[in-house]
Amino acid sequence: MRVIIKDNPIEISHEAADIIVKQINNYHGSVLGFATGASPVETYKRIIERYEKGEVSLKYITTFNLDEYVGLSRENVNSYFYFMKDNLFGKTDVDFNRVNFLSGEATDLEAECKRYYDRIRECGGIDIQLLGIGTNGHIGFNEPGDKFADGPFAVKLTQSTIDSNKKYFEAVGDTMPEYALTMGIGDIMRARKIILIATGESKAKAVKELVEGQVSPSCPATILQMHADVTIFLDKAAASLLGEKK
Ligand code: PGA
Repeated sequence: MRVIIKDNPIEISHEAADIIVKQINNYHGSVLGFATGASPVETYKRIIERYEKGEVSLKYITTFNLDEYVGLSRENVNSYFYFMKDNLFGKTDVDFNRVNFLSGEATDLEAECKRYYDRIRECGGIDIQLLGIGTNGHIGFNEPGDKFADGPFAVKLTQSTIDSNKKYFEAVGDTMPEYALTMGIGDIMRARKIILIATGESKAKAVKELVEGQVSPSCPATILQMHADVTIFLDKAAASLLGEKK
């Protein structure tokens, strides 16, 4: 696990975007796993800037996103599909035919999870998976629990996740869904390279557990200690508890 501490989120975004752009320029048909939430937004801005300068084309990449809320359509401003369209895909030459998403509107959630699992395999697996981390140590929506999930599954969100994300729904007068579909830990761990971004003091405890804690489904992110190619980008606030006794 490489832990890289930067002064601020902008510096992180340049480095993270650089890794992704290099991957795409090495192989235009790369398969990229994307994340939503505040953590990757600056990185997406850097990728867009580099696209606008003609330094990269996203035309031939295939994408998979980590998760989606159950019950939300792609047009809902709080759906993660909408987020990706707004923050990256719609501002580049991404081919929407190669954009893969768990469908929040699927009637048979189990079949939808199976479809996504198979689709990742059909596309040859994920070259780089981008991640954030929840204040409770979740990655994707793999919430703390007593086992690690392999493939995608439907999850009841924890109160901590609802408390972190409900502001986006309240802003438009909606209630946050209690369920989501998420890639499993197995799907994430099968990615050939993983980049995790965490910034701000609210992430410091989860980051300490991720880097220094015992591998346990009670903090799902700790599984990343077992992956051969993980880069963790932190700002000083998120790294502030590293090296301190518990
Ligand atoms: P955030 O969410 O990037 O909005 O902090 C991260 C996560 O919950 O995984």
